[in-house]
Amino acid sequence: MEKPVIKIFTKKWILASSLFLLMAVILLSYFNKLVSSDPKIVIRLEPNNLNMVSLGELVYKENCAGCHGLTLKGQKNWKERDADGYMPAPPHDETGHTWHHSDQYLFYITKYGIEKFLELDYPNNMPIYEQVLTDTEILASLSYIKSKWPEHIQRMHDEMNSN
Ligand code: HEC
Repeated sequence: MEKPVIKIFTKKWILASSLFLLMAVILLSYFNKLVSSDPKIVIRLEPNNLNMVSLGELVYKENCAGCHGLTLKGQKNWKERDADGYMPAPPHDETGHTWHHSDQYLFYITKYGIEKFLELDYPNNMPIYEQVLTDTEILASLSYIKSKWPEHIQRMHDEMNSN
């Protein structure tokens, strides 16, 4: 009389544990995908970190200065569309609006481009650096840019980031 009871119990147990295992595998692969497609890095500009700033200066001169200018002044008439209908490169110094944006915004715009980040259909001349620069190089170039802002602009930018 006892045997069937044990059998039923065992069957249920096997079923429950396989279900549990299956769910665990599905969940694990889901999290794995999340992590590998968007590795968690700390997105934080470091204008006081000398290593980051000097790496950033190199990266900036080689990759950004051609459009945004060696002295971060941007292109001429940057507020008006050019003959082809595109916006010129804006300045990255305090006269532009780079400092109005958070670290996250600046990083993602540089890495993935304006269209992908803002989910906008907006053809533009800002290159996408995902395949060109490492995350550290992108953060370094932006840290260099920030290090060039006057002290009070850097403080205002810090405050915005902490919100
Ligand atoms: C081929 C020219 C070109 C190069 C090279 C370039 N940019 Fe740009 N960038 C642009 C243009 C043009 C815009 C403005 C696009 C628009 O709004 O239509 C822009 C916009 C930006 C913005 C947004 C600024 C804001 O106020 O919204 C950031 C940030 C930026 N660039 C960072 C960089 C960095 C960092 C590099 C180098 C790693 C770089 N850019 C290299 C042309 C360039």
